[in-house]
Amino acid sequence: MSFTHEKIETNVGWLIVLAVLVVSIGGLVEIVPLFFQKSMTMPVNELVKPYDAVRLAGRDIYLREGCYNCHSQMIRPFRAETERYGHYSVAGEFIYDHPFQWGSKRTGPDLARVGGRYSDQWHRIHLLNPRDVVPESNMPAYYWLERPVDASAIDLKMAALRKVGVPYSDEDIAGAKKALEGKSELDVLIAYLQGMGTALKQAR
Ligand code: HEC
Repeated sequence: MSFTHEKIETNVGWLIVLAVLVVSIGGLVEIVPLFFQKSMTMPVNELVKPYDAVRLAGRDIYLREGCYNCHSQMIRPFRAETERYGHYSVAGEFIYDHPFQWGSKRTGPDLARVGGRYSDQWHRIHLLNPRDVVPESNMPAYYWLERPVDASAIDLKMAALRKVGVPYSDEDIAGAKKALEGKSELDVLIAYLQGMGTALKQAR
């Protein structure tokens, strides 16, 4: 008997094996080239730099406090989004984000280009009690952030990031603890927010 289409469709074993084969080839054809495209693997411009110790510590506070539960960091390429937030996000902006914080949950606005939109003082008031500047806000008050930032593992974190390809120099890592001296959690979080999405904004 010849190996017909009918035979495949009526035999669950063959159907599974061949379907998996077809889907994997389709997947590989789509995914593998991304590893070799400059737009995916290189910074979009020379303004995209690894996070310095202060911003990296701020990013950790952002993760610890779960800001991503309400804020995405990815502007989609639609007019409604670009009119509101600015240039849509591109892969080359997130080269040094491990892991990236794109997300899709937007209880609050997207933050991908929030850097430079407000003053440090605005952020300070807003983070300690959002209702002081946005009366209708339902964002929680992060009133405990005025305490000193924990710098004890910042050099180890940077060394770990270097292992996955972030080009930190020995001096960057050696100077990390000193850079955090005297800084509060609020200071470093604001530094992180103020750097967000600015590389492409400046280039616009
Ligand atoms: C429960 C949801 C929620 C969480 C969690 C949350 N936010 Fe918000 N955020 C909002 C909402 C809603 C707004 C819009 C109203 C306002 O400005 O307060 C907002 C606004 C903002 C803005 C102003 C954005 C703009 O373009 O106007 C910033 C910056 C911000 N949040 C940062 C943070 C940070 C940092 C954290 C974590 C420490 C955080 N948010 C956690 C809901 C949240």
